Amino acid sequence: MARQQARFVCQQCGAFHAKWTGRCDGCGAWNSLIEELPREELPGGRVKAGPDRRGGRPLGFVGLTGPSLLPPRRKTGIIELDRVCGGGLVPGSAILVGGDPGIGKSTLLLQAAAAIAPSDERSSGQTAIAAYITGEEAIDQVRLRAERLGVAASPLLLAAASNVRDIIASLDREDPPALVVVDSIQTMYLDTLDSAPGTVSQVRAAAQELIRVAKRRGFVLVLVGHVTKEGVIAGPRVLEHMVDTVLYFEGERGHQFRILRAVKNRFGATDEIGVFEMSNRGLVEVPNPSSLFLAGRQGAIGADEATPGGGRVSGSGADEDASAGPGAGHLSGSAVFAGMEGTRPVLVEVQALVAPAVLGTPRRAVVGWDGTRLAMITAVLDARCGLSVGANDIYLNIAGGLRIVEPAADLAVAAALVSALTETPVSADAVIFGEIALSGDVRPVGHTEARLKEAAKLGFVEAWMPSGRGKRRGAVAAAGFEIAAIGHLSELVERLAPRRALRGQSLGRPLIGAAS
Ligand code: TYD
Ligand code: MG
Repeated sequence: MARQQARFVCQQCGAFHAKWTGRCDGCGAWNSLIEELPREELPGGRVKAGPDRRGGRPLGFVGLTGPSLLPPRRKTGIIELDRVCGGGLVPGSAILVGGDPGIGKSTLLLQAAAAIAPSDERSSGQTAIAAYITGEEAIDQVRLRAERLGVAASPLLLAAASNVRDIIASLDREDPPALVVVDSIQTMYLDTLDSAPGTVSQVRAAAQELIRVAKRRGFVLVLVGHVTKEGVIAGPRVLEHMVDTVLYFEGERGHQFRILRAVKNRFGATDEIGVFEMSNRGLVEVPNPSSLFLAGRQGAIGADEATPGGGRVSGSGADEDASAGPGAGHLSGSAVFAGMEGTRPVLVEVQALVAPAVLGTPRRAVVGWDGTRLAMITAVLDARCGLSVGANDIYLNIAGGLRIVEPAADLAVAAALVSALTETPVSADAVIFGEIALSGDVRPVGHTEARLKEAAKLGFVEAWMPSGRGKRRGAVAAAGFEIAAIGHLSELVERLAPRRALRGQSLGRPLIGAAS
């Protein structure tokens, strides 16, 4: 039989092309054509695909219950990492760790690989538990780092390689290491493909080969991927659907701490975060992030109690901005939001600056929150409370570099804005949470108890929150909190600036009925 011709398939719309072109004729997407060689053999190389393709084997259907053959999860010993992965690493799974260059991916994974090694050696007697394959750095560089991290003594297998064929030859065996880190997938190449390492087709094919071995041999494969500014060109985006778990490691350059976030997880929840702090001896876990995010805010609260468990490294003053000095909490424009990140409550400070607009169009600068939601809240403040927030320049910052996605932060943002506008400080002992509807009503949010418990732990005694139902009030009373129930946004304005609220009542209140 004559060799079938290669064809190019658009990865956006699926159109076939006989030749490669930069732009798909079908949908107009650029750079979306990928060469696909028709396979003459099916995977495994047993059955030749003949003209009669219908002779498949019937599937052996099973029920949903039955003995599970999955081996237990493997803990790395880095609790934050284990939690983000859903309680440990699942053998045979592929994990992609993405993040900007220099954020600390290699550091984290070297620490994890070293941490997994000794504990398991004791229990199972195996020699090599983890392998770290670097395509970016030289052996000496990694050794130097290991020394700095204090893990040089761990029985880790280290190799510098970038040829996938070599890597597979070393891993495709009966007793592979339990964890294999490939740093990074952009440097790996298959010599069967013509394109350069780092191109989409190389990244994709290399990952596919590695993942196949991981599944067959049952080891945990961790792929490191760099993200470009847009997260597109050869970035981990093309891999997201191929792997089981996608973790993003993020953080602000000027800040010490890093956040590991699961954006896809076939074996756990995706809303968990792990918080680390970059120290001069690598990444240190931060078991109690609230005190880190609030550290220095209120002289009495953050500073003394900072992270029990040794997460906080003292003397990191260089990066702390001026507004975080003691007493800064008593300035206007700051409110503490009692948020949830996955199953864990996290307290963060919302900072707002409202200044008269100099140019025609008011400026908006938002760090750590959604700009559209900010626009919505200013609109609600204007329309329902009779303020004129929207005409001003607004700068909003989630202190410490955390990115918040919860709508429950609405009320804290509104409090920071109103506080900044009216130059009235929000009570330094208060935490705030609640979702704001377009009508100006404040809606209840979940996890009230966890939020309040965390706030109590950090010394807060007041909570500004949606007016709740009976059961919740009971729980709240038990926590010994002074509750300010806020049913409508104008009540918040009234708390902060009574005169303006009066004007708001007469102007804006019930245009639309209460939101359902
Ligand atoms: P790295 O893990 O190399 O980042 P990535 O693999 O994501 O590109 O870490 C980069 C930064 O971390 C580097 O700028 C130096 C810093 N760092 C520390 O501050 N302390 C340390 O102990 C280590 C190992 C790195
Ligand atoms: Mg690196």
